[in-house]
Amino acid sequence: MQSTLQKIEREFEAALASAGADPKVVDEVRVRYLGRKGEITGLMKQLRELPKDQRKEAGQAINRLKRSVQERLENAIAAASSAQRDAALAGERADVTLPPLRPWAGSLHPVTQTRRELERVFRDLGFTIEDGPEVEDDFHNFQALNMPPDHPARDATDTFYLADGNVLRTHTSPVQIRTMETRRPPIKMICPGRVYRRDLDATHLPMFHQLEALVVGEAVSMADLKGTLEALWTGFYGAEIRMRLRPGYFPFVEPGCEYDISCRVCGGDGCRVCKRSGWIELGGAGMVHPAVFEAVGIDPQRYSGFAFGLGIDRIAMMRHGIDDLRLLMENDVRFLRQFPEQP
Ligand code: PHE
Repeated sequence: MQSTLQKIEREFEAALASAGADPKVVDEVRVRYLGRKGEITGLMKQLRELPKDQRKEAGQAINRLKRSVQERLENAIAAASSAQRDAALAGERADVTLPPLRPWAGSLHPVTQTRRELERVFRDLGFTIEDGPEVEDDFHNFQALNMPPDHPARDATDTFYLADGNVLRTHTSPVQIRTMETRRPPIKMICPGRVYRRDLDATHLPMFHQLEALVVGEAVSMADLKGTLEALWTGFYGAEIRMRLRPGYFPFVEPGCEYDISCRVCGGDGCRVCKRSGWIELGGAGMVHPAVFEAVGIDPQRYSGFAFGLGIDRIAMMRHGIDDLRLLMENDVRFLRQFPEQP
C-alpha cells in the first residue's frame, strides 16, 4: 500500500507540473485523482480488501495523501485563475491614444433658435414680449379683429372649432386685442406662438409658428411700419437685405399690405427658392383698423398703430435651406443634430 501511495503521489506531482497554469488541465488532474472515479477515491474502496489490522494505518495514509493532493490542487487552481485574469487584463488594456467619444448634449430646436433670435432683435428695438392662449374665443380671434360672424374673411381660414364654440387660434393677432384690452398706449409688443389651421402639405402644417408685432401711439405712421420692418430684417439678416411692401388685404388693417425680402439664396437675381422672382414673401402688415381700436376702447382719433405678422417656421427653413416644413415637426434626431446652437 505504502508504495502504491508513493507512486500515485509522484504521478500526481508530474501531472500537476505538466498542467502548468491552464485552469482546464488543472481541473482534469483534479478529476483524475479526486473525482468520483478518481485514483485516490478508488484507494478508499480498496481498503475493505485489506486485512483488518492494516486498515486503520492505511486509511490514515490515504487521507494524508488526499489532503495534501487537495491542498496542492487548490493552490494550483488559484494560481491558474489569477494568471488567466492577468492575461485577460493585459489584453484589455485601455488605449489612451484613441480619440474620445463625445457625448451629444442636445440643442434647441431650429424653430426655437429662430424665435429667440427674432426676440433678441425686437427686444433691441424696445418691444415687450407678450403671451396669449392657444384656445381662443370667437371675439378675440375674429370679431374684435373686424371679422363679424358673417364676414367672408372667416371662410378663408380653415379653423379648428371646439365643441364649446371656442377655436384653436388661427393667428397670433388675437394677442393684439388682449394686449390693448389690458394696456393703454404707447404699446410696442410682439407675441410669438403656435397657431392652427386645417392644412397639411410640404409647405403647410396644421400647427405652425407666427410672430405678431403691434405698435400703438400718437402719430404712428406707415413710415414707422416700413422703418421697423427694415430694422428687423437688417438686424436679423444683415445690411444687404432689401425689403418691399405690396398692397394686401386683412380685415383688421387699413391700409394693408404684404411684405417681401430679397431672396437670401440668390441675392435677388432669381432662383428656384424664390421661384425666379428674387423676392420671398414673409407676411402681412398694415395700419390698425379704426374698428379694432373701437373694439378695445382706444380712441382712433387720438391713436394710430401698425401691426404685422410673420411665419417663424418659414424663416427657420430659409435660414437652413430646409425644403419641407414637415421635417421641422417630426423631431427625428438625425435631422435635429444638424442644427447645433450657434455659440
Ligand atoms: N394675422 C395675419 C395672418 O395670419 C397676418 C397679419 C398680422 C396681417 C398683422 C396684418 C397685420 O395671415
